[in-house]
Amino acid sequence: MLKKNNKLKVSSTVTISLAKIEDAKLLFKIHNASVESGFFNSKNLIFYKDHIKWFKKKLKSKTKIYIGKNSNKKKFGYVRFDEVKNNVFEVSLGNLPKFYGKGYGSLMLEKSIKKFKSKHEPKKIISAVKKFNVRSTKCFLKNNFVKIKFDKKKHYTITKINPKKEYYLELK
Ligand SMILES: CC(C)(COP(=O)(O)OP(=O)(O)OC[C@H]1O[C@@H](n2cnc3c(N)ncnc32)[C@H](O)[C@@H]1OP(=O)(O)O)[C@@H](O)C(=O)NCCC(=O)NCCS
Repeated sequence: MLKKNNKLKVSSTVTISLAKIEDAKLLFKIHNASVESGFFNSKNLIFYKDHIKWFKKKLKSKTKIYIGKNSNKKKFGYVRFDEVKNNVFEVSLGNLPKFYGKGYGSLMLEKSIKKFKSKHEPKKIISAVKKFNVRSTKCFLKNNFVKIKFDKKKHYTITKINPKKEYYLELK
């Protein structure tokens, strides 16, 4: 009961905005924390000098990254849309560990999808999630994604999909 109320309270106060260069450190921290916990495909921690190069390139590309902020104006996470094929986008997201499980991720995803769709009219939005990653899977299912049987001739992802280990999801 307490968890539910608490969740509702935080959820109603999330705002999102497009990432800027000053958000590099936030994404760096989230990336390495997620790698350490095994939530990402990559097993390697990244160095900041490599991250900043990657981030600058992303900011200039078709990729869109939204940053989630709570009511205390604290930036806690991101949602990223990468184009994987003509106007088909793969979405991924991450939060700083101290914000896990509080309702932030799901709401940040909802708001980011709404904003992204209104600005870019994507043909399709897809995602790949590790099956053991219950929180992430729930975030996507709650936000109108459905699990699709992965077909490597038909489907595209940035990350490699092993259908035994990862779900392939599409936004309805
Ligand atoms: C994935 C991630 C962004 C989700 O954000 P979050 O704020 O932690 O998730 P939420 O609090 O919105 O919870 C999402 C759902 O998981 C449930 N949940 C939360 N903690 C849980 C736990 N420990 N076990 C099972 N379910 C849990 C919530 O109840 C919610 O489901 P509901 O809305 O049906 O009740 C965040 O956990 C994260 O950054 N993880 C590391 C990076 C990562 O895994 N990224 C995804 C790669 S695609």
